Amino acid sequence: MKPIASQVAGIVHAAAPYCYRCPFKLEYPSCGVACADDVEEIINTTTTGNIAAFMAETILGVGGFIIPPKEYFPRVAEIARSHGGLFISDEVQAAWGRTGDKWFGIEHWGVEPDIITSAKGMGNGVPIGWTIATPEVADAFPGLTFSTFGGNPVSSAVGLAVINVIEEDNLRENARVVGDYLLQRMLELKEKHRIIGDVRGMGLMLGIELVKDRQTKEPNPQAVLRVFEETKRQGVLIGKGGLYGNVIRTGMMLNTTTESVDRMVEALDRGLSLCQ
Ligand SMILES: Cc1ncc(COP(=O)(O)O)c(C=O)c1O
Repeated sequence: MKPIASQVAGIVHAAAPYCYRCPFKLEYPSCGVACADDVEEIINTTTTGNIAAFMAETILGVGGFIIPPKEYFPRVAEIARSHGGLFISDEVQAAWGRTGDKWFGIEHWGVEPDIITSAKGMGNGVPIGWTIATPEVADAFPGLTFSTFGGNPVSSAVGLAVINVIEEDNLRENARVVGDYLLQRMLELKEKHRIIGDVRGMGLMLGIELVKDRQTKEPNPQAVLRVFEETKRQGVLIGKGGLYGNVIRTGMMLNTTTESVDRMVEALDRGLSLCQ
């Protein structure tokens, strides 16, 4: 597939592993995960053949909570490495237990990245960002690195406290258990509302894609705005995303409860009913 033109020299983009709207118009699993194999094609046709790295979010967050098939990351990491590149996992959204049970999203695919970047959930609202690498990669970093806010003691103390609370209160497990419940409730909404084209996600990173027609899958961003007006009126704030702005993205707190889920689902249900 022709890669999307990059706005930054030296960076090319691979097709999204977006099964609901497959860029190759194929279906999983008979597609053979063509989107992963295409990474090889892109490297061969648009780079020198020697790459620095392949970088990806494990679940495409702003992209609309897109979950790559289970074969995707093992295969693209192998392709990147066979071309001299590192595999960098962007865990800004998918880390810290959000996807249920695991600390990092990439653990669900059983791949060990060379570098992981993360932020957001680690600070629970306090600004902190973080990068770790294998000793081999970290030791190869040339010279000095520093930043104005690097090593801020308050942010560091908060980061540690957040990690401890996630561990002590079993919040990764809670994300899986309550997330499974939310997923069930969302699938019930899908039974009821024809404008729901897809429900997907992991743990407490779950989204609903709205369409005008289930057959044509024409995106329905207007319905998302309509739903949001209603949920806001009920004091429930929800996020959106997706290439077309037609995905309702829920990112409930890791210590959330089934009662809070019911309240949100009820608000969504009323909002969706207004879009029929
Ligand atoms: C997946 C992902 N990666 C990277 C970033 C950028 O993170 P930061 O603002 O900490 O640089 C964001 C921010 O929203 C993000 O969602």
